[in-house]
Amino acid sequence: MQVFLNGQLLEKQEAKVSVLDRGFIFGDGVYEVIPVYTGRLFRFTEHLERLQNSLDAIDISNPYSHTEWNKICDDVIASCPGDADKSVYIQVTRGVSDRQHLYPDNITPTVFVMCNLTEAHSYHDGVMAITHEDIRWHRCDIKAITLLPNIMLRQLARNSGGAYEAILVRNNRVTEGAASNVFMVKDGVVYTPPKDGHILPGITRDLVVELLQASGQGILEQDFSLQELKDADEVWLTGSTTGVAPVIQIDGDAVSDGCPGQYWRNANNLFNQYIEKIKT
Ligand code: PDD
Repeated sequence: MQVFLNGQLLEKQEAKVSVLDRGFIFGDGVYEVIPVYTGRLFRFTEHLERLQNSLDAIDISNPYSHTEWNKICDDVIASCPGDADKSVYIQVTRGVSDRQHLYPDNITPTVFVMCNLTEAHSYHDGVMAITHEDIRWHRCDIKAITLLPNIMLRQLARNSGGAYEAILVRNNRVTEGAASNVFMVKDGVVYTPPKDGHILPGITRDLVVELLQASGQGILEQDFSLQELKDADEVWLTGSTTGVAPVIQIDGDAVSDGCPGQYWRNANNLFNQYIEKIKT
């Protein structure tokens, strides 16, 4: 399987980055994860727009045009065997320099792109989640590679009886999952937190909002509290590698009757139908 590194397609084992890369030293970089269905990049323009926003936020100029990114992604997809669902990982760091906190002048970004197979998931039984204080910074809208809190929280979830996700709470407001966005349903209305510096503007989130609105389902981009989450009729998670996942237990307590609900089924169907259309 080949990966792309700084202009070259290389075997994964051959691709090497300097120990002075600022991604390695500071976590000074941003990334994207783009789903690939039957070889096609999913919502590519939206992902590239978010990459551009992340790069702008940290003053790295985008090294490639839309067409160039497309070609790079297609090249790594072509070298990833099989028809299974995949994802493309793009990482851009500020580049290599002696260690100094200030952004160095005249530095060339390091660009790494690889393709991975996506684990197939069935949410027949739903997933479990824990809740935790949101211990991250206030610029969660930047898709930064600096993911220490996120991986700590995901691991904590796993260690808490095999939960899939940690749902995060800041000042008693639910923000998002450690690697997903959060939706809840109460009395027939779907809620998801508004896009601000405390959540990643998820591409899957936006699509689910779009699909539900188009179907006439009431949906509000509005904050809700930890208690409201716990009292919800349904809770779902969305993400590029998650799809739309129903949460059936939070902190050991059943969400409603402890089974995936009808609103999730509807949202998941709309989402899957949308993907199926892309595949054909
Ligand atoms: N993560 N919120 C956070 C903190 C995330 O890391 C992700 C995705 C999402 C969902 O965004 P999207 O729908 O665009 O995938 C929300 C990716 C998949 C990851 O880090 O692997």
